[in-house]
Amino acid sequence: MPKLFVTRELFPDVLERLAKYYELEVWDRYKEPPYEVLLRKSREADAFLSLLTDRIDCNLLSGSRLRIVAQYAVGFDNVDVKCATEHGIYVTNTPGVLTEATAEHTWALILSLARRIVEADHYVRWGEWWRVGTAWHPLMLLGVELEGKTLGVVGIGRIGSRVAEIAKAFRMRVVYYDVERKRELEEKLGIEYRELDDLLAVSDIVTLHTPLTPETRYLINEERLRRMKRGSLLINTARGAVVDTNALVKALREGWIAGAALDVFEREPLEPNHPLLAFKNVVVTPHIASATSETRRRMAELAAENLIAFYEGKEPPTLVNKEVVRRRSPGFG
Ligand code: GLV
Ligand code: GLV
Repeated sequence: MPKLFVTRELFPDVLERLAKYYELEVWDRYKEPPYEVLLRKSREADAFLSLLTDRIDCNLLSGSRLRIVAQYAVGFDNVDVKCATEHGIYVTNTPGVLTEATAEHTWALILSLARRIVEADHYVRWGEWWRVGTAWHPLMLLGVELEGKTLGVVGIGRIGSRVAEIAKAFRMRVVYYDVERKRELEEKLGIEYRELDDLLAVSDIVTLHTPLTPETRYLINEERLRRMKRGSLLINTARGAVVDTNALVKALREGWIAGAALDVFEREPLEPNHPLLAFKNVVVTPHIASATSETRRRMAELAAENLIAFYEGKEPPTLVNKEVVRRRSPGFG
């Protein structure tokens, strides 16, 4: 039986299913395995089931006995895919199954920021409402309304499209930017294409849905933040490094934008004394956009399906590096 190293505990029944094909070793601590452990395991294992926090770099891949890395995430910026392909190693991810959860979380962040939900909760919870003693005031905790506002979607893949679709229910106008213009989608969703700099200049809310690649690293930098409307909001459920955090802190401090809601950070976990946390108009969650029971289960099942297909000598259903097939056939035969 080929050996599979699972870098964190998953649903037991999914692991049981995998155990019919693979000899499993599961890292059962809450904390991620250190790089040295991954390195050692990669020399012994034929397959990895990895998380986005596992650094699967070329150093690890090139000296490994791995044939497949099945990532439990849609993003795979932690994996050196080019290097994997060169070494005939299959890389799979879990797209599609987390689209809804991530889009819903994006809207949870947008609404929290627009209607100051976290601030309002603190106002009640920590006794401020009581201390002030005013039950209702016309100007208490005013937010912004979504109807008629413009949502700018950066990256119109599965998640970005779903976020755009939901925006229509709020009667928002939606503009999008992507490296590829998608005319069919424009028609279908009633959205308009804009170059990125134009999108930033016209949007009341900008939401990021790109993968992290060398091209999207610091896509939202100081210059781009300066282009955003005063009074606009920035939402990031993609990857922290798509935004230059220092520039964002500056933008918030100097009031170039009115707020930010972030699920992802350049460095995770975010340190508790981080300057971002000093702003009332910043809402943060700890990289949980896909964290629903339904979605996490489907992600585990899809990762398992990829591993099982590979075992059976079939192309895994959500293979990232399709070119690898020409180099090496799937399977351990
Ligand atoms: C989560 O960030 C993912 O990429 O699935
Ligand atoms: C992820 O599933 C995306 O393509 O947006």
